[in-house]
Amino acid sequence: MKNRKSQLLTAMLVFATSIAVAARQAATTPQTREDSTPQMSETFFKDIRVLKGIPVDEFIDTMGMFAAATAKDCTGCHSPQILDGNPAAFAVETPMIQKARFMVGMMNAINRNYFGNQKRVSCATCHTNTSVPQNVPNMAVQYGDPFENPNSLEFIVAKGSDPSQIDGVFAKYLEALGGAQRLGAVTTYTATGTYAGWDTGLSDVPVEIYAKAPEQYTTIAHRTEGDSVWVYDGRSGWEVSINAALPATIPLTKGNLDGARLDAIVALAPARLKQAFAKWEISRSLIDDKPVQLLRGTNPNQQPVNFYFDASGLLVRLQRWNETLVGPVATQYDYSDFRDVAGVKRPFKVVKTSTRNQVTMVIKEYRPNVAIDATRFARPTTTRLIK
Ligand code: HEC
Ligand code: HEC
Repeated sequence: MKNRKSQLLTAMLVFATSIAVAARQAATTPQTREDSTPQMSETFFKDIRVLKGIPVDEFIDTMGMFAAATAKDCTGCHSPQILDGNPAAFAVETPMIQKARFMVGMMNAINRNYFGNQKRVSCATCHTNTSVPQNVPNMAVQYGDPFENPNSLEFIVAKGSDPSQIDGVFAKYLEALGGAQRLGAVTTYTATGTYAGWDTGLSDVPVEIYAKAPEQYTTIAHRTEGDSVWVYDGRSGWEVSINAALPATIPLTKGNLDGARLDAIVALAPARLKQAFAKWEISRSLIDDKPVQLLRGTNPNQQPVNFYFDASGLLVRLQRWNETLVGPVATQYDYSDFRDVAGVKRPFKVVKTSTRNQVTMVIKEYRPNVAIDATRFARPTTTRLIK
């Protein structure tokens, strides 16, 4: 049996590099409402029967849930023809796809009939990262060390945690970053470094980041087949990927859009983090056996976001979830190697982990307060070089 990592690698390589399409940013496309209206999965894909009525970014997250929950790569369900770079091959029906469609119906029926239509049971509930769920409990787990799922939505207020400490955590965070005054003096930055993920076959490619206060943020990874681009313009967000199986420009919705906004806030307006959420809760946790202070921010009718602060007060992990038709899908950022840049502490390493990809960005240089052309934050488009 292939190990998990190599399975995932194959999955993501298929998804990310099957077809070479070059992406670049639009020169001056003015933003219209239409640009931000997300396309529904059934209007873009060829044969959607059970995952209808959801935007394309959420559809991609459902495939991430399928792959993660069942420990299969894309070819674990889809026809091997997808390896030939033919995007139409994703629509080819296989026995596994029939089974997965059947499972969506079963899951919906369980939630409807037994959980008041709440999405209590997801693919992950039964599958727990295995393709064939077991009906025998594992005694090695029963008697082994307790094992926590770091991506769980569960939030247990730790003994001794006191809500009155929440403001103190924010104050310590801003102080650890360099203090409100130095933070306020930086209104833009650009960063350059390397990007490596499943989509680059784990090799380093150049990455550029553009950030502008209060809420604009763009990342461009220069892959050999073309650029992958993520943009948040202060209101809307998009992703451009060089994958012919997907639309050229994918508007971000729900948790993915809120998450793109958080990238911008954490980068240049951390003082505004507190007001970005209606409700805060506090707890404690461990990362690599080191104690961390955990804050959870929640807005009405949205999934929460968890923020982990280390002993020095710095934000070392951010965890968010996107609600999908088949359950919540987590995205985790780990920030490390903090160094001083013009009086402000910046992370020189960021690892972004999701069901679709695990990306490591190593920053070589931050340049604060440089002028950034407004087109950097415009809706990105792609030019497909190869059909
Ligand atoms: C557990 C099985 C399973 C796995 C693993 C899986 N898929 Fe799917 N995929 C499906 C099912 C089922 C559908 C059809 C959904 C429907 O009918 O609404 C689908 C549909 C699709 C489609 C739309 C095809 C079309 O044009 O109609 C794309 C694209 C796709 N999957 C991509 C992926 C990618 C990329 C991966 C790997 C990250 C992946 N899938 C992993 C089961 C799976
Ligand atoms: C209530 C529990 C439960 C839920 C929820 C569930 N599954 Fe399953 N699934 C099973 C069981 C049990 C099997 C094994 C059935 C068998 O061997 O015939 C299975 C088998 C499968 C298989 C076949 C795996 C293989 O390698 O043979 C796929 C694919 C699958 N499930 C996908 C999904 C997807 C996608 C979801 C979420 C939409 C999901 N399942 C939700 C219980 C569940």
